Amino acid sequence: MLVLLNNFIKKIVILIFLVGFNGSSLAEESKIEFISTDWTFKGVFGTFDRASLQRGYQVYQEVCSGCHSMQHLSYRNLYEKGGPEFSEKEAKAIAAQFEVTDGPNSEGEMFQRPARLSDKFVKPFPNVKAAAAANDGAYPPDMSVLAKARKGGADYIYSLLLGYEDPPSDIQLDDGVYYNKFMSGNKIKMAQPLLDGAVEYADGTQATEKQMAKDVTTFLVWAAEPHLEARHKMGFKVFLFLIILLTLVYLSKQKVWSRFGSKNLEEEETFDKIEKAVTEYEGEDPKTFK
Ligand code: HEC
Repeated sequence: MLVLLNNFIKKIVILIFLVGFNGSSLAEESKIEFISTDWTFKGVFGTFDRASLQRGYQVYQEVCSGCHSMQHLSYRNLYEKGGPEFSEKEAKAIAAQFEVTDGPNSEGEMFQRPARLSDKFVKPFPNVKAAAAANDGAYPPDMSVLAKARKGGADYIYSLLLGYEDPPSDIQLDDGVYYNKFMSGNKIKMAQPLLDGAVEYADGTQATEKQMAKDVTTFLVWAAEPHLEARHKMGFKVFLFLIILLTLVYLSKQKVWSRFGSKNLEEEETFDKIEKAVTEYEGEDPKTFK
């Protein structure tokens, strides 16, 4: 019994460590090997690199938003905690750069006004058909949850952005189709979106292809999982709680079982004596014991 209990506690401790520190080991492995990067948001203690998120927004806005929508994001998300954390003033200024249709007004007419914090990100196309028609029949998917929806997540998006190559000689590509190492089937109907210097970063960071890919991917991961940091914090607290709980369980187990097989004969004798007295007393008149 004692051995079983000991083994049980040991197993739980090992399990907690495995799950806690290597959660991704449970994830499915994919066939294509993506470029793996040291993302700051990986692991139980992971947080987003704030500056990278802000630059990532810039890349999305200046490059990707021409084709890809982000329908679940509102401008106010840009200053919320755990995100790019622009100031409220900056977020308002960002929103005000866009025009949205509102109304109807008192005359029953729809009208254009600058976007506010509560507005959703403006979409590049009014609907899926218009988006596909403008892109040679291929629909640029909405990017609000893309990082979660695709196998490989951040690594997949990052690799895809850097995976453009000249096609091998035996592969013929139609017009508007490009060769990409990481796209399934290697053919993609999106021209390479990031070329060195595609944007100019305000913080002086060099806008290399890799840097922009990293920043925009970080931004997309946050968009798909805006509460990642809060979740990690909570996870850490639960982890700590379990460790403390297990320590207490272990210590109390030691204490309870220490009576058995202990060398402290005196204590054991006293214990036996009390037990004997109680049994005798019960034997005499069990009713008085109720
Ligand atoms: C000129 C329009 C255009 C621009 C700009 C553009 N994309 Fe795309 N993107 C597309 C189209 C069209 C597809 C669908 C391609 C296909 O299905 O073959 C696509 C597909 C993708 C995919 C693959 C999605 C999947 O289904 O797995 C990713 C990831 C992606 N784009 C990311 C980006 C990022 C990040 C940017 C900005 C840096 C960007 N795109 C800029 C048009 C564009």
